Parts: sequence; structure tokens; C-alpha cells
Amino acid sequence: MARTRESLLEQLDTWNRRALEGGGAERVARQHASGKLTARERIDLLLDPGSFIELDRFVTHRCTDFGMAQQKVPGDGVVTGHGTVDGRKVFVFAQDFTVFGGSLSAAYASKICKVMDLAMKVGAPVVGLNDSGGARIQEGVESLAGYADIFLRNTLASGVVPQLSAVLGPCAGGAVYSPAITDFIFMVESTSYMFITGPEVIKAVTHESVTKEALGGAGTHASRSGVAHFTAPDDRACLAQLRELLGFLPSNNTEDPPRAACTDPADREAPALDTLVPVESNRPYDIKDVITQVVDQGHFFEVHAQHAMNIVCGFARVAGRPVGVVANQPAVLAGCLDIGASIKAARFVRFCDCFNVPLVTFVDVPGFLPGTDQEYGGIIKHGAKLLFAYAEATVPKVTVITRKAYGGAYDVMASKHIRADVNLAWPTAEIAVMGSDGAVNIIYRNEIERAQDPAATRAAFVEDYQRTFANPFKAAELGFVDEVIHPRVTRHRVARALDLLADKRERLPPKKHGNIPL
Ligand code: HXC
Repeated sequence: MARTRESLLEQLDTWNRRALEGGGAERVARQHASGKLTARERIDLLLDPGSFIELDRFVTHRCTDFGMAQQKVPGDGVVTGHGTVDGRKVFVFAQDFTVFGGSLSAAYASKICKVMDLAMKVGAPVVGLNDSGGARIQEGVESLAGYADIFLRNTLASGVVPQLSAVLGPCAGGAVYSPAITDFIFMVESTSYMFITGPEVIKAVTHESVTKEALGGAGTHASRSGVAHFTAPDDRACLAQLRELLGFLPSNNTEDPPRAACTDPADREAPALDTLVPVESNRPYDIKDVITQVVDQGHFFEVHAQHAMNIVCGFARVAGRPVGVVANQPAVLAGCLDIGASIKAARFVRFCDCFNVPLVTFVDVPGFLPGTDQEYGGIIKHGAKLLFAYAEATVPKVTVITRKAYGGAYDVMASKHIRADVNLAWPTAEIAVMGSDGAVNIIYRNEIERAQDPAATRAAFVEDYQRTFANPFKAAELGFVDEVIHPRVTRHRVARALDLLADKRERLPPKKHGNIPL
């Protein structure tokens, strides 16, 4: 064909058409039949309509082995570029399972690295939409090198720009480590799975029989392993969750999170809080009822909702300002700190600190969970993670003690002593080394044994101990809590504290990095 303007435009149209077809109509139909959207459909749902600018649409692999020279698809199985979410810049890569099973070639890896490098330069989040058969088998070590190039960038970008991963299909072997390094993992029920070695290999090596779903499905990772932070029933819901999470986050570590317009008055009283916490310290209640009374419009975006449920973490807004909420959950394991809860909350606290999200902590903790499981599992080092994370965090830290704050767990849960800025307590607070019964059993054992009426003597000691320590006033006398407040004004006090701390300046001593107990 002669080289005319028309023929050149036609050529461009042909290339574009071929790229947009991905792996072809039949593979796209198979993708839909399996309950999944295509890479491009996912990007369209993630980003603001019409905002996507694609990069590297015509990149192809460079492999010539195994007949690959004849099999080239423009884009090579991953769609990359940038667009906006609620008008704010976001970079995205979406693996296209319809092209070579979404498997990763050297060229494909370079496309992902390019958007990650750009995201770091301009300071915008990266969202990875994963759906891939893993390393492109025909490319061998070049593919492994490509993965490592991505892992390195994930690591260097950590704490600089938010990185979110959605797993929307297979994600197996070493490929899991890119999502694993990122800040949050979303999984879709029934269609996604993540594992290091699949059911066949496990069968051969350990003789265990397990299905793909039970081994690495969304339910498993959201509840048991804690690898997944969010699950959704389908791609569409998952992408909506990603958009929502981005709305709480700054674009990078030098910015504050975006403040939203707020119609919920900052000084709104919540009378329900006055009676929400049972006076009897061993009666449970749901801490989420406290959280939703305090935050804007009662809206709480929970992270890890099904994992280590004895601690609650998530995002909310107070007077329009995004906050990270951490709260002991008296309704599960009495709100004890255990290995799972410590790790869950430590990672959340560190995320918030990386990205300037103030921390609001609700405390009702009877201590660390006793038991050989916990001790052998290393509760010492895992509990230390949470202590380290809170102590190191320089973001505004506001703490509300609703009831128990006992023992070492009192220190850990954003106490004044580890640089919390504003510490509030409700009249129901009990700030002590331990509960009254336990304390009396230890310090008055001899007196109780020798007494004529041990039960009455014991009860009198318990009452005396309660009067002295099972209240917030001893701690208030010492300045360890700044104010004892009526529960109903909690929202107002937290909002005022966040206003006060909006320009907080605090730095860590100069160092390469700390050595958090891993
Ligand atoms: C090249 C691949 C591929 C791969 C799938 N395909 N995985 N091509 N490299 N890794 C191709 C298939 O040949 C097929 O091509 C198309 O993608 C769709 O695959 P199907 O098998 O038809 O799909 P499905 O039945 O849904 O099964 C999906 C699957 C399976 C479970 C992912 O394809 C699979 O087991 N693939 C191999 C997975 C694997 O072992 N990867 C390497 C892991 S090691 P056609 O032309 O027929 O449509 C690894 C290490 C990473 O990833 C290291 C990082 C450090």
C-alpha cells in the first residue's frame, strides 16, 4: 500500500484494534464465563470514566524460542498506564489473562516497572490488578529477572507511594511476593487464589489433600492467614472497594490525606455512648458500636475484618479528616492481644504512619492472651512489633480508654508513655497492672488464707483495690490521661485533638532504619 496519510492512520487503527482484542473473542468469552472481567474492563471500573491513558500498548515480547516469534500480541498480556480516581492521579497495571494466561515476560515486566518508576517520580499510588499464570514458561530466567525487577521497585516504593494489589485470578509461586510487599491485598471470592505451592505439589511432598480454594482462596487468606485485607463477591465490588480505600489516602508520603467536606457536626454528642460500655468489666460489648458513634456518618471502612477479630483496624473520617482507627474488641477473646492481633495492628499502625494518617486508638484490653501456643509462637516478639510500631509512629496519636487498660497491654496501646499526644479516658476506665480479682489473689493471698471468713475478706480486698485502681483517676492524677470525659462528647474531643495536632512536628532520631522485631 502506498505511504499516504490515510494508510498511516489506518495502520495505527489496525494496531489499536489488535491490541484491544487482547487474546481474542474466544478467550475473552472464557474469561467472562469464569466470572471474571477483562483487564480493560477492570481498568474502566477502577478509574474515573475516560481518564485512562495507556502506555506501551504496542510492546511485544522478544522471545524466539518455542515458536514464540510467531505469537505476538500488542501489549503482551498486561495493560499499563495512568488515570484518575476521584480526580486524583493513579497508576495502574492490569494483567490480561486472555494473552498467554497473563504470564509475565521480560517485556511485560518492563512495562510494569515503567509505570512504577513514573509513579515514584510524580508521587502517585500504584494499583496492580493481578490475574496471571505466573512466569512466562517459554522465557525462563528472563521472566524471573522481570519479577525481581518488580519486587525491588515494590520495596523501594514502600512508604513513598501507596501500593494496592487486587488478586482477581491465579497468583501463584514467587509471583505472590509482589502483592505481598504492597500495602493492601484485595481478593475476589471463588475466582482468585494465592499460594506458594499448589495442591499437586503439596500432595506430592506432604501427602496432604487440599483444594485450591481451601489452600489459597479469598476466604482462607482473609480469615486464617491474614494475607488478604479485603474480599469482595466479584470484580466489580472489588474495584469499588479499591476506589474507596484510595479516597482515604494521600498520593504519597509528603502529602496529608485528603480532607473531605463534612456535614456531620464535629461537636455532635452521642448519648448512646454513655450507656454502651457495661460497668461489669467482664461483660462484652461491640467496640464497633463505639467507633461508628464517633466517626463521620457512622462510616467505618474496616481492614482485615475477618482476621484476628480481637482487634479492629480500619479507616474512617472525623470532621472530614481521614484517620486510622485501632481498637481492642471486647466481643472477641475479651479483646486480648495475641500474636495475630499484634501483627495485624502493627502493620496497620506502620501504614498509617508512612502516609500521615492520624491514629485514633480505643482501648479496652485485659492484657496478652496466656497459653503455650502463644509463648511458643513468639508472642514476645510479635507483641513487641505493636509496641515498636506505636512508639515509632510520629503521626498524631489520640487515645480513648473506654474500660480496661491492664498491664503491658496498657503501655502498648498508644499510651502517653510511648508518645501518644492526647489521651482521654471514660469514667468506666480501669487503668491498672491487672484486674482486681487477680491482683488481690496475689498481694493478699496470706491474709485471705488466714482469715476466718476468706470469702468476705477477699471481697473486701477486691472492693478496696477497685476503689483505688479500677478507675481512670489514679492515671489522671499522674497526668497519664489528659482528660476524663463523658463518653457522649468523645467525637467532639477527638475532633478537637485532631485539629490541635494537624501541624504536629515530631521526628525520629537520625538512623538508617530501626530494627523492628520481625
Ligand atoms: C506461558 C501460560 C502460562 C505460563 C498459562 N499459560 N500459564 N503460558 N506461561 N506460565 C497459557 C496456557 O498455555 C493457555 O494458552 C492460556 O495461558 C490459558 O491457560 P489454561 O491453562 O488454558 O487456563 P486455566 O485452565 O484457567 O488454568 C490457569 C492456570 C494454568 C492454573 C494458571 O494455566 C497453569 O497451571 N499455568 C502454569 C502455571 C505455572 O506453573 N506457572 C509458573 C509458576 S512459577 P492457550 O494458548 O492454550 O490459550 C512462577 C514463578 C514466579 O510463576 C517466580 C517469581 C520469582
